[in-house]
Amino acid sequence: MAKIVIKGQKELSGEINISGAKNSAVALIPAATLCKTKSTIYNVPEIRDIDYLIKIMEHLNCKVEEKDGAITIDSSKLKNKPIPEELSVQMRASYYFMGALLAKFGKVEMSFPGGCNIGARPIDIHIKGFEELGAKVEIIKNRYIIKAKKLVGKKIYFDFPSVGATINLMLAASGAEGTTILENAAMEPEIVNVASFLINMGVNVRGAGTKTIEIDGNKNVDNGVVDVFPDRIECGTYIILGALVGKNLKIKGIIKEHIGALLMKLTEIGVDYKIEGDTLTISKCNDIKPVNVKTQVFPGFPTDLQQPITTLLTQAKGTSYIEETLYENRFKNTYDLNRMNAITNILTLNKLEIRGPRQLKGTKVIATDLRGGASLFIAGLIASGTTEIENCEVILRGYSYIVEKLTKVGADIKYIE
Ligand code: UD1
Repeated sequence: MAKIVIKGQKELSGEINISGAKNSAVALIPAATLCKTKSTIYNVPEIRDIDYLIKIMEHLNCKVEEKDGAITIDSSKLKNKPIPEELSVQMRASYYFMGALLAKFGKVEMSFPGGCNIGARPIDIHIKGFEELGAKVEIIKNRYIIKAKKLVGKKIYFDFPSVGATINLMLAASGAEGTTILENAAMEPEIVNVASFLINMGVNVRGAGTKTIEIDGNKNVDNGVVDVFPDRIECGTYIILGALVGKNLKIKGIIKEHIGALLMKLTEIGVDYKIEGDTLTISKCNDIKPVNVKTQVFPGFPTDLQQPITTLLTQAKGTSYIEETLYENRFKNTYDLNRMNAITNILTLNKLEIRGPRQLKGTKVIATDLRGGASLFIAGLIASGTTEIENCEVILRGYSYIVEKLTKVGADIKYIE
């Protein structure tokens, strides 16, 4: 089994370039099936989830070419085929084929999507939305069969501003007759990224990035071109790392509005940083203060940075508390953090106490999920001795060239097959 091996406590300096956002790219690729012929997506991250999505695109008879971080998709021979379980379970984002293929063909068949095991993660809001547009949804064992003679635009109110449901309904609504209005929509930057792709290919979308999004259906779309936004979670992970072991570490490719909640929290913690243009420079903070963190939907503190910031707070002088409001099982990383000499206590299902400061010590650990894995590689980089992270494939699902990027700035980190 592959593992990441880290010898900790090296100072990191130099520049880390942020890759394209995983959570945008995984929606933009299925969205490309809406185009009649070609579309191009630039700045695509090189991560495992993208490899699997390309396999699904090829299974659907699309031609995909990859060159210099851009992928060109030819969907002129697109065929609507059931998506096999071995592909759809590889990641959660496979559910975006539901919205896209429903818009294109009025029918889609696929298995329940996969993704990190961090809670129940139902997709009832997506399904309810498809039904409101006129689709019939049949669930046989774990297969979804979604059909619509025609989709008709409507006002849809989301009970919760789900990122996935907002994007999926934008995709489905692009194939509906008339206008769809999504109320209480998610406002994450990934939504804006997908909307800009839809607009570029010819769908009228208004209000993306606000709570109300309007989509005028249009099936006659083509030649979509889009740049994937920089990955705000990758960016936040490396900023957190910089606060622990950076020496004028430069994180290049930031959009500060996308990481506002993290930056505010870092200021409260006592971390100093400087932003010039798209580059943030950060050095080790020697006086880390304890804080309370509550995860929320955008623009609140992102749940995907909750596990990375937990590692930072193991170094704070005092006790910090984290409240996880999005997922009910997102503290699994703390088992191994404690084995590395941290003191964290799960107080209730969604409340964590972290007592610092603790000198972490390298040992063998297991990455249970993508961002939990991130909290462990940060821990390994600040720990004394050697940390071996097993099941590290989950980390490669979200961090493009992680070993190469960290080695370039001075980390002692290896990937061993
Ligand atoms: C996306 C991100 C993920 C991030 C999350 C929240 C992708 C591929 N993944 O996940 O990294 O952690 O946003 O920022 O973009 N929910 C329901 N029913 C639904 C949909 C969601 O109950 O139909 C619940 C979920 O179980 C979860 C919460 O709503 O508790 C948030 O989910 P959602 O915003 O949909 O996240 P994802 O799109 O799955």
